[in-house]
Amino acid sequence: MRKKIFSGVQPTGNLHLGNYLGAIKNFVELNNEKENECIFCVVDLHAITVKQDPNKLRNNIRETVATFIASGIDPKKSIIFNQSQVKAHSEAAWILSCVARMGWLNRMTQFKEKAGKDKEKASVGLYSYPILMAADILLYEATHVPVGEDQKQHLELCRDIAQKFNNEFGVKDFFILPEPLIQKEFSRIMSLKDGSKKMSKSEVSDLSRINLTDDKDLIINKIKKAKTDAFPIPSSLEELTTRMEAKNLLGIYSSLKNFGLEKTIKQFSGRNFSDFKKDLSQVLVDKIDPISKEIKKLLKESDFLDKILLEGSNKANEIASEKLKKIHEIVGF
Ligand code: AMP
Ligand code: TRP
Repeated sequence: MRKKIFSGVQPTGNLHLGNYLGAIKNFVELNNEKENECIFCVVDLHAITVKQDPNKLRNNIRETVATFIASGIDPKKSIIFNQSQVKAHSEAAWILSCVARMGWLNRMTQFKEKAGKDKEKASVGLYSYPILMAADILLYEATHVPVGEDQKQHLELCRDIAQKFNNEFGVKDFFILPEPLIQKEFSRIMSLKDGSKKMSKSEVSDLSRINLTDDKDLIINKIKKAKTDAFPIPSSLEELTTRMEAKNLLGIYSSLKNFGLEKTIKQFSGRNFSDFKKDLSQVLVDKIDPISKEIKKLLKESDFLDKILLEGSNKANEIASEKLKKIHEIVGF
């Protein structure tokens, strides 16, 4: 079946190995399947749900496009654009916010995590953010949405909103209910410093993540310093359940090699971590260093990146404004 793919990444800097293995690697594979129609969005409207420096944001938008291309997404085959340039997203988000229920949003765990203890101080946008995400997806009639595990709940909400709209207005199948595409294994890459925390752009310590712009020496150094434990690599999966850091590093290796975790364990069983880390650094350098070099090269060609965004947003605008017109008719505008 021909898939219509839509996904988004926030231009908030420090794109890292978690973004790559959880999402971007999958984007590239989907882009390479001939029959798919793919749209990859730099979600700048989502980025401003927390405070951004305007100049940094502008650079981060370009850096996200550069990362997509350096990772292997072909802008001739897939549409790449930034959300703010297609006005239909904001408008559809408003209309859908009148369909979504407070109770549904109140259950979103990512808001609770991001808002922290003082919810009163969080922006309203951070709270309603999953509705904008639903608008992104539904405007393009996406059938499949590749994301990391942390976005699963937002996709379920998107399906609920689509279903309620279709039912309430009696327009069966108007909004397509999208399927999440989440990697079966390694859909959640953890911090190199704390195996209970997600690898994240906003973590203060740069040693907690491998950035996609890190060079060879930095990668080797970060893996050397990555937290492990005092035991050798076990011979079975069960023995890893309480060893989160060990499991994460073995998972990263497996994901990069396209191995199952069991195969990696078999390969390294009985060996110590300092030994394993040498092999891990090598596969990481082989994969990330060329991407890092290409990102840096592309960042010097800002006109080229801007042209891709302009062409992409023109194409996206055609699709989205057509759908928005139909939404207007359905709600009675
Ligand atoms: P964001 O940077 O929050 O816009 O995330 C972009 C994509 O990367 C989303 O599909 C996330 O689910 C995915 N992602 C972010 N962090 C991780 C992680 N630590 N492990 C796996 N996937 C991740
Ligand atoms: N919320 C997603 C994240 O933080 C990014 C995103 C925005 C997205 N719109 C989307 C992902 C639509 C998939 C589809 O990672």
